[in-house]
Amino acid sequence: MRKKIVAANWKMNKTFADGLQLIDEILNTTPVNNNVIKIIAPPFIHLAAIADKLKSKEGFAVAAQNCHHLKSGAFTGEVSAEMIASTGAEYVIIGHSERRMYFGETSSLLAQKVNITLANNLTPIFCLGEMIEDRNANLHLEKVKQQLKEGLFHLSPSDFSKLIIAYEPVWAIGTGVTATTHQAQGMHNFIRSEINKKYGKNISENTILLYGGSCNAENAKDLFACLDVDGGLVGGASLKANDFVAIANSF
Ligand code: PGA
Repeated sequence: MRKKIVAANWKMNKTFADGLQLIDEILNTTPVNNNVIKIIAPPFIHLAAIADKLKSKEGFAVAAQNCHHLKSGAFTGEVSAEMIASTGAEYVIIGHSERRMYFGETSSLLAQKVNITLANNLTPIFCLGEMIEDRNANLHLEKVKQQLKEGLFHLSPSDFSKLIIAYEPVWAIGTGVTATTHQAQGMHNFIRSEINKKYGKNISENTILLYGGSCNAENAKDLFACLDVDGGLVGGASLKANDFVAIANSF
């Protein structure tokens, strides 16, 4: 049985105080389904405090939204995987389309970030997904296959089996346009079949695949009911406690 996960990607939102308040609101919003792992990915400066707040709370974990690809050194303004691990965070989002688009992150850089994340016993949440032009040209499967291959398929089976993948069609992120269940399930099934070809049935059946892109309290139930969708990576709707908890309770 694959774990059910709902991850909150706060992006560059919430001051320190507002972030802590949102955590309190989430914890005070019941009922929370303890079988669903709720991962909070705040900005770096919140990590230690939120990890501390959630440390004894069943079903919660903390993620960073990014990390540097090297161990340490003269990289002003950067944050390493080791530092993230030292806060109590357990996951790192890698390869979000906003990182790929606005910060020029390439597949080979992302492969290095995956490696250093795993080397620090953190779980990568590796994002991939096609642009609208790819889908319109019917190249979406090809595009995602390439992202899988370049970002992840260098991993050994044992390392690959530790990570989480988030399919986020770029045209659905922050747009209010969600993939249909048919589109989401179709792509998730395709990703699983590519993993099967590379790593075999056991690993492909156990890989957690999240959907992201305008996931909200209204559409989460249908999306999460898809056979190959194991949860969501939620941006905008994760900034309100009621909405986030409702999404986590949608399984
Ligand atoms: P969204 O963002 O839910 O606001 O579309 C999702 C994401 O970018 O992870």
